[in-house]
Amino acid sequence: MDIQFVSAATDITEKSALAIIVFEGAVLTGAAADADSQTAGVVGRALAQGRFTGAKGQILDLAAPAGHSAGRLLLVGAGKREAFDAVGAEHAAASAYGAVKLSGLTTLRIAFADDGAAQPERAALGVRLASYRFDRYRTKEPADKKPSIVKAEIVCADVEAAKAAFAAQSALADAIAFARDLVSEPPNVLYPAEFARRVKGLESLGLEVEILGEAEMEKLGMGSLLGVGRGSAKDSQLAIMRWNGAADPTAQPVAFVGKGVCFDTGGISIKPADGMEDMKWDMGGAAAVAGLMHVLAGRKANVNAVGILGLVENMPDGDAQRPGDVVTSMSGQTIEIINTDAEGRLVLADALWYCQDRFKPKFMVDLATLTGAIIISLGNDYAGVFSNNDELADNLLAASKAEAEPLWRMPLPAAYDKQIDSIIADMKNTGGRPGGSITAALFLQRFVNGLPWAHMDIASTAWKKPSSVPTIPEGATGYGVRLLNRMVADKYEG
Ligand code: BES
Ligand code: MN
Ligand code: ZN
Repeated sequence: MDIQFVSAATDITEKSALAIIVFEGAVLTGAAADADSQTAGVVGRALAQGRFTGAKGQILDLAAPAGHSAGRLLLVGAGKREAFDAVGAEHAAASAYGAVKLSGLTTLRIAFADDGAAQPERAALGVRLASYRFDRYRTKEPADKKPSIVKAEIVCADVEAAKAAFAAQSALADAIAFARDLVSEPPNVLYPAEFARRVKGLESLGLEVEILGEAEMEKLGMGSLLGVGRGSAKDSQLAIMRWNGAADPTAQPVAFVGKGVCFDTGGISIKPADGMEDMKWDMGGAAAVAGLMHVLAGRKANVNAVGILGLVENMPDGDAQRPGDVVTSMSGQTIEIINTDAEGRLVLADALWYCQDRFKPKFMVDLATLTGAIIISLGNDYAGVFSNNDELADNLLAASKAEAEPLWRMPLPAAYDKQIDSIIADMKNTGGRPGGSITAALFLQRFVNGLPWAHMDIASTAWKKPSSVPTIPEGATGYGVRLLNRMVADKYEG
């Protein structure tokens, strides 16, 4: 999508749709007409004859009147002026895109009825996110089902300022698209080594990327992670991504760790067939961490950051890990495998331990599509966050609000920790059905060595089917990239 910022006086062509973002109530006073003198009268008449009030999400699609240079007029409701914010601008712009993407027109111009364009770069981000599409494997799509809009023009007062402000948002949109692509790819294409190869490709942005294979992980004693990959014909990998953007190259880094189960069959504790295809996106945590590193490099963030991805495939096989096996993690702690489908925590146990051991970071945040139970607890909009540190949890929650990636804090009660004690080993890998997301988090906590840490269970948010958020097309969301980028920008840079 070609994004341009233009002044209101710029000529518009008949291949364009002109979307006017209007606020609730304000439209009847003629504010909408102010955005474009040629529409005066037509808009007023249309409003007087129907129920369009400018409420959030409302769209009124009009033919352009005779004499108007645009091909189409669109009124987009943005809700009450007082409640309108940067996310509102994204959503209004994204809704406008959604309304005309298949129209046959090639350009979408977006104008705000009043100073709603104060953050034109966020309107542009809205269009970028809404126009994301994964169409690599479509070979027969009819031409009229393909989006026709290739250019968005955002009308604003200060074109140069908007362009400058858009640079960081454009880097964010690129990173989210990168994460969404990884999550959307089918599991026969995106297995651990291919994931690692794509991440290695980010060295062109200035990241340092190391890939460890099974032999290297063996040497490090990562028996917990390696046990998960035993049934797979594909080699497990650990990707270590580093962005050294701080003025002081020795400054203590912030660290992010992602669950990258490229496909989760459940292993010997195999999952039911129905819906198993969804388990291709069991690497959504690793994709979000890769996306975060992408945007930090893309906007040259003033921070040292580490991203660690545990990349495995969980398959049944004659040599697969069994329920009843005991594995030794890199930390030295032993784990009795009760259920081979509780594999994400086994991958993260070694990835977290490795991270704190090697990098001694300020904190670690892990992201993982860890439990079905988080979907039962929070539904499909909120991810859950568990933390041993209130400041870190509060920083994540504040970033979640600013970027509209909903997050809810969950408890880490010490009393539940005994649910994962084993009779023959240091712990077992499941704690039974009660509080399934909590005991999973308590398991991870045993591998953070007391460091400030937060675990985000994103099983509820990594994928949307269907989506009611205009900036998130159905499918991979890229959840976490925006939130973590914002937290780093607001709290850990400079
Ligand atoms: N990848 C799944 C969790 C998951 C489930 C993500 C549904 C997205 C949608 C995870 O590896 C898993 O299988 N967890 C089990 C744990 C159980 C065996 C203790 C679960 O949630 O059922
Ligand atoms: Mn599983
Ligand atoms: Zn899993």
